[in-house]
Amino acid sequence: MLPFHLASHYLLYRLKSFKLHGVHSPFIFELYHQVIRHDGDYYAYPLIEGLRQALLANNSTLLVTDFGAGPKAGLKKERKISYIARTSAKPAKYAQLLFRLVGHFKPRVIFDLGTSLGVTTSYLALANRQAEFYTFEGCPAIAGVAQENFRKLGLRHVNPVIGNLDETLSRQLDQVKQLDFVFFDGNHRYEPTMRYFETCLAKHHEHSVFVLDDLYWSAEMKRAWQEIKRHPQVCQTIDLFYVGLVFFRKSQPKENFTLLY
Ligand SMILES: C[S@@+](CC[C@H](N)C(=O)[O-])C[C@H]1O[C@@H](n2cnc3c(N)ncnc32)[C@H](O)[C@@H]1O
Repeated sequence: MLPFHLASHYLLYRLKSFKLHGVHSPFIFELYHQVIRHDGDYYAYPLIEGLRQALLANNSTLLVTDFGAGPKAGLKKERKISYIARTSAKPAKYAQLLFRLVGHFKPRVIFDLGTSLGVTTSYLALANRQAEFYTFEGCPAIAGVAQENFRKLGLRHVNPVIGNLDETLSRQLDQVKQLDFVFFDGNHRYEPTMRYFETCLAKHHEHSVFVLDDLYWSAEMKRAWQEIKRHPQVCQTIDLFYVGLVFFRKSQPKENFTLLY
């Protein structure tokens, strides 16, 4: 069930969202029907959902450094792997959407901010084994479990970057020529979200795709999403409630869509 603080935002989203009748942007129209609403199966889905089930059943504990947005940020605490899998990993519906987006756009350089146990990372990475792929995680214990998962899935092209995004992001950005795809699912506060977004803009191009997670998770994330939609370098956005897609296609009209997913 939807948490209470999200319910009113979700209701508003459902009222605003539509199924794209009469939308004149062929780019958005095609993307919506062929990728976003695609309901077929891919070989990767059962593979990674099997991994998720194993994590959900794993009751061993990790000493976790909290890098998140909550009041306990910075503290170390024991957490069951099952708990982390249940509370952090994106649900299959959205992780599989990310898989399809990467499969569709075929980005060559991918940044994944917020690896956690590597569930969504595995979807992103399996969608393009040719990509130059960097996944960022602050907590070494969590990153260790994720790396074991990448090894099991044979994802040798995944490069883990361990440390605080405040330091690792710019450093890694200096090493790549351009950024084709970014998934922002690390620190969910307004200031770091905007800072990481601006940092990544330095290497974006006309065909880059940025995806933001948890648009309505808090007032701070809501504010960040509103600001990103208005950002002068952002051209098109699609609000799918739990995730937001950001495009930079100057050849198309600037437009913000709210679409049913
Ligand atoms: C919501 S979880 C990511 C879930 C993952 N994308 C998935 O769907 O499977 C966010 C992760 O980002 C990490 N994180 C948060 N703030 C960070 C920071 N400033 N630097 C590095 N990692 C950070 C947390 O430790 C946590 O594992």
